[in-house]
Amino acid sequence: MDGDRNSAVRGGVQSAERHDSAHKHVRGTADYIDDMAEPAGTLHAYLGLSETAHAEIVSMDLSAVRAAPGVALVLTADDIPGENDVSPVHAYDDPVFAEDKVMFRGQPMFAVIAETRDAARRAAALAKIEYRALPALVTIDEALEAGGDLVTPPLKLERGDVESALKSAPRRLRGEMEIGGQDHFYLEGHIALAIPGEDETVTIHSSTQHPSEGQVLVSQVLGVPANAVSVVVRRMGGGFGGKESQPALFAAVASLAAKKLNRAVKLRPDRDDDMIATGKRHDFKVSYDVGYDEEGRILAVDGTFAARCGFSADLSGPVTDRALFHADNAYYYPAVRLRSQPLRTNTVSNTAFRGFGGPQGVVGAERIVEEIAYALGKDPLEIRKANFYGSEPDRDVTPYHQQVTDSILDRLVSELEESSDYRARRKAILYFNAKGGILRKGIALTPVKFGISFTATWYNQAGALVHVYKDGSIHLNHGGTEMGQGLFTKVAQVVADCFQVDLDRIRVSATTTEKVPNTSATAASSGSDLNGMAAQDAAEQIKQRLRSFAAEKWGVPEEAVRFEAGQVLVGSEALSFETFIAAAYMARVHLSAAGFYKTPEIHWDREAGKGRPFYYFAYGAAVSEVSIDTLTGEYRIERADILHDVGKSLNPAIDKGQVEGGFIQGVGWLTTEELWWDGEGRLRTHAPSTYKIPLASDVPRIFNVALAEWSENRERTIRRSKAVGEPPLMLGISVLEALSMAVASVADYRECPRLDTPATPERILLAVERFRAAEGAAA
Ligand code: MTE
Ligand code: MOS
Repeated sequence: MDGDRNSAVRGGVQSAERHDSAHKHVRGTADYIDDMAEPAGTLHAYLGLSETAHAEIVSMDLSAVRAAPGVALVLTADDIPGENDVSPVHAYDDPVFAEDKVMFRGQPMFAVIAETRDAARRAAALAKIEYRALPALVTIDEALEAGGDLVTPPLKLERGDVESALKSAPRRLRGEMEIGGQDHFYLEGHIALAIPGEDETVTIHSSTQHPSEGQVLVSQVLGVPANAVSVVVRRMGGGFGGKESQPALFAAVASLAAKKLNRAVKLRPDRDDDMIATGKRHDFKVSYDVGYDEEGRILAVDGTFAARCGFSADLSGPVTDRALFHADNAYYYPAVRLRSQPLRTNTVSNTAFRGFGGPQGVVGAERIVEEIAYALGKDPLEIRKANFYGSEPDRDVTPYHQQVTDSILDRLVSELEESSDYRARRKAILYFNAKGGILRKGIALTPVKFGISFTATWYNQAGALVHVYKDGSIHLNHGGTEMGQGLFTKVAQVVADCFQVDLDRIRVSATTTEKVPNTSATAASSGSDLNGMAAQDAAEQIKQRLRSFAAEKWGVPEEAVRFEAGQVLVGSEALSFETFIAAAYMARVHLSAAGFYKTPEIHWDREAGKGRPFYYFAYGAAVSEVSIDTLTGEYRIERADILHDVGKSLNPAIDKGQVEGGFIQGVGWLTTEELWWDGEGRLRTHAPSTYKIPLASDVPRIFNVALAEWSENRERTIRRSKAVGEPPLMLGISVLEALSMAVASVADYRECPRLDTPATPERILLAVERFRAAEGAAA
């Protein structure tokens, strides 16, 4: 990098710019795919879904569907010219349309294309399908009892001699916990608009975090090369991981129909079908066997992480791997063995969700800490601190043999402890609960350490395309997608800063496979790390050409050409950016560049369970205080204090928004968002009437959120910032542990309550009642 930077431009890095579309989001002028003007003659598709969880398809009579008013086409597996598969990992187990068997209730079997969406939807209901039922495995326990068929090879992480460490430990505990899944509940549901082009080509507007994967999978379904398929996305109304692999199905069906009919085709399922037919966060059953000492120091952990993956592999491999990578959270385990069990079930195939399995691993670690604290009668915070990585020099190796060299938790947690007045408040709460009232309170401080990088090492690459037009305006494109997280704004700030121009000189444009090829999903929180670097690379290439040009034209050394505060300084002369660029154009300087970046130093050997999968770690901590009503199980969050590490923030306003949003989404996952399948594998919570996401009124009464401003990434990331998208979700765990404390007060904290998630009011009440019953029996 060069010394051109100063802070006189508006909107460079580290400035709290508003999201580039914030004003359009609130005014309703930000275009989502369903807002776009439809090409003349656009038709609408609707999916016909399986009505049973596991069965052979005996017959499919679609004659009434075809004869329904307004129907132009009905598509089944027979109509697919290429592969009937959209598996993101090429496992060939994700059919577009079920062929001989259905594997879950809600699986697409056919599609209707009609003049209107309503006509297509009504027609889809007219199918007559005969099934021969097969046994359906719905829950983790059912899958385990049936022998535990796996959708993808499991992972084992091991270090030290676990057996003997467990045996020789002064104290030991065994436990089990169920952790629920989560629906993404993006405000904009899945949607694809396919517009046929000449020859084999098709352009798809797809609400996707992964345009390149959509391109490849659609090309395979159509049986054409990838260069015939373009995927475009300006923005999503939320993705949260739900639009990493899942959009391919909708893109494929719309494209198939568009090519058959040579008309534009739009596919947008309604909310219920979106919830029923697309994958969610994996629910887990975690079992642990832990050895520890009288000080609460963990000596050995043997943990098993069984996950409900659904009927196919999808991203369950990397998701369950990441659960193991985070099963230590921030704690050093001297001897450890962790195993994943990615179980096949006859439910929708689960997928990426903010944290990507990591949060489930962290919840497990935090429960272990809580159990130790109650067993020893100590404040759980003491146990946490005693086990932090780096509390002593040789306590710094993870279960995957990567050294933790950048932990800032000691400082971060003690600062938060101070600023939140944790100790005094905990004391006050103990006093309050001792009065034995109906209302009880709880408080908990939980940390998070989150590994940044895709564990699929080759994914850690990105490209960008920057054009400087001869009027001095700048066009920016990169492989990352915008889903509300502010990526476009942050990357534009990097480019504005490179050229030292105001942010409004940069136009961010829709992500498209035609401008930047072979991109990775915007996921693993790595969007700004990767695309920020790629965009910087492109900008620096153009700047270098401009410097050479100016040095020659004005006869000064290259070092005397400097970009500063909207101007270009050439020796003692100062030119406006416009004037300078116009001169460069006349001198035939190439004003466009493709940038590239790949994360250095990372490597991962999955077979051996060893490597450095993460470039660095992001840290954070939260203190939450709750009250529960022991007669109804209802609760509220009285206060939450967060201190989170984003390194040197590219945009503190946007990063803070991510921290707040992530925390609340984590709280929703762990408290009120309950997915409930009946015995026949039917999802019964498929609309906001039965699935409760947090509301504005659920925000903590007092909510103090701060970024650790002193933190700076020790690695050479884009301007020393850190990824922010996913880690704050795990700060929501502080609410779960605070609820646990409030419940425990009923039995005078003698025992750590078994609290599965989501800890709904029903579960809280049951836990309270269990303690009351035990107390009654004892009395
Ligand atoms: N924030 C908003 N507003 N909407 C989203 O869909 N997705 C999250 C997070 N924050 C999401 C979000 C997820 S799952 C990830 S991986 C990151 O954003 C992806 O973007 P980034 O890599 O640019 O942080
Ligand atoms: Mo985020 S779950 O990596 O899309």
